[in-house]
Amino acid sequence: MAVKATGIEIIGVGKYLPEMVATNEDFTKIVETSDEWITQRTGIKTRHITNGEPTYYLGAQAAKAALEDAGIEAKDIDLIVVTTCTPDFYTPSTSCLVQREIGAFGSMAIDINCACTGFDYGLDMVRRYLLAEDGVDTVLLIASEELSKFTDYGDRASCILFGDGSAAFVIRRKKDTLWSSYLGADGSGAGFLVARALKSENVFRKSEEDFDMGMPETKEHLLYQDGKEVYKFATKTLAAAVQKACEKAGITPDELAAIVPHQANVRIIETAAKNLGVSMDKMVVYIDRYGNTSSASIPIAFCDAVAGGRIKKGDKVCFVGFGGGLTYAAVIFEY
Ligand code: UT7
Repeated sequence: MAVKATGIEIIGVGKYLPEMVATNEDFTKIVETSDEWITQRTGIKTRHITNGEPTYYLGAQAAKAALEDAGIEAKDIDLIVVTTCTPDFYTPSTSCLVQREIGAFGSMAIDINCACTGFDYGLDMVRRYLLAEDGVDTVLLIASEELSKFTDYGDRASCILFGDGSAAFVIRRKKDTLWSSYLGADGSGAGFLVARALKSENVFRKSEEDFDMGMPETKEHLLYQDGKEVYKFATKTLAAAVQKACEKAGITPDELAAIVPHQANVRIIETAAKNLGVSMDKMVVYIDRYGNTSSASIPIAFCDAVAGGRIKKGDKVCFVGFGGGLTYAAVIFEY
């Protein structure tokens, strides 16, 4: 029996992809690779890349589209949550910059960084705010990522994966609906996906030795990825997280109308489907168009599935992600 709880209602959605597109063919001019290798090993064909537009700008465009879809104004928003691992500044937060851009002055504004799992964690956090019934009734949850900022275009195993983009949901509280979440992290894998911040250097520092943070050497701020380890983690956790979230919701994976997984590699998604015993028809996959846009990949795919009629109002949907941290999360709700 499906468990009914106080959950979420998505009243508007929107996405934004920068205009510029990089094809697999374009990458053959940068690194030794081929369209055939990229397509077969990842499922990716194209990804959108910014032409200098910052992360907050991408997020604000998606937010405007979601507000329009919801038929509400920026002043109606009580809380803005932005998920990003590619902010433009340490401070101000991306959510404050989005707020400035859309004119939602007075709302709360928070950033969260759970890398590719951000949107699932964001949904769970938003639902907990709504549950408190303490002045937060309408929320704008935005995932905005500009991975091209720290992509290492000299590393052929990782640079072909990533793209930029954003998506946003307007969310309200809904009573007696389907909701469950299963979230977790495994910090022992922290060194498998790394993009470093500023080093600890100050005028008073006496030590010449770098503190051993137990992390791999990276090329300055550029993204380092141990693809094989992340792949192993992903194939282990994706199906397990869906299964656990289904158990908590009192349903079986078969009862889900759609599973929207983090779009990292089509082979990871195929393995998850096999482990769950569901057909690939249940999996929402648009990785060929956008590549891996970290926390934005799940809501972008959701927007396309809704626009294409693949997901309809009332459908039982599962979002499932994994990524840097390492982190993993699955949430189930009724659209
Ligand atoms: O959201 C963040 C999460 N990140 C991920 O989910 C990434 C998870 N990992 C993966 O998706 C895969 O591990 C990759 C796509 C990154 C790599 O695919 P793989 O099948 O694991 O390839 P591999 O690393 O085992 O490399 C196989 C071969 C190697 O050549 P040799 O040593 O067998 O001669 C690589 O050098 O493929 C080579 N290779 C390439 N060849 C052509 C690696 N990248 C490329 C490339 N083009 N772009």
